[in-house]
Amino acid sequence: MYHTGIEAPQGVWWRPVTGSEKVWVSIAFVWCLVLFAMMPLWHLRGGQNPSGIRHRVDPVAFSARVDEFIEEYRVGEEKGIPVVAPPPGSHVYLKASMWTWVPILKLQEGAEYTLHLSSVDVNHGFNLYPMNINFQVVPGYDYGLVVVPNQAGEFQIVCNEFCGVGHHLMVGKIIVEPAQLAQAGGGLR
Ligand code: CUA
Repeated sequence: MYHTGIEAPQGVWWRPVTGSEKVWVSIAFVWCLVLFAMMPLWHLRGGQNPSGIRHRVDPVAFSARVDEFIEEYRVGEEKGIPVVAPPPGSHVYLKASMWTWVPILKLQEGAEYTLHLSSVDVNHGFNLYPMNINFQVVPGYDYGLVVVPNQAGEFQIVCNEFCGVGHHLMVGKIIVEPAQLAQAGGGLR
C-alpha cells in the first residue's frame, strides 16, 4: 500500500484529545506565560543591564573626538596603533572601523571611566576577551559605558559582529595596570 500526493493521508485530528495531551498542552501554555513574564522581570531584576548612556553622534565628529583624545593622552604606539593612558574619571573613546580598534587603552585597576564606543563605518561587536563582555558598536550612536576595571592584565577586544573580509583580524587591546603600580605613578599621567 502506498500513497500518491493526490490522495489525502488518513487523518486523526478529529479524534478527541486524550488526557495526557491536555496536560502537556496546559504545561506548555503555562510555561509560555512564565517565559513571557520573565522578559520584563529579567529586565528589571536581572542585574545585568549595562550602565549605558546613548546618544546619536556623527561618525566624522566621533572620529575627530577620538583623534583629540589620542592627542591628549598618548603614551606610545604598538604596531602603528597609538597607546593612550587617560586619567581616572575621564571620558575614554574607542573607535571601531574596518578592521581596527583605535586606540589601545591603558587603564588603572579600580578607577572609573566612561568608555565611549562607536563605529565609523559598519556594525562591529565589542567582545572583551576572555571576560565575555559584549556590546554592539553601531555607527551613528555613541554608547557610553561607566566602567571600573576590576582586574589587572592585558585584555583583547575581539570583534564579534561580521564586518567584512578583515573581520577575523579585528583585535584590539585594553591594558589594565594594577592599582599599586598606578598609585606609584607607574608611567601614567
Ligand atoms: Cu569588526 Cu567584525
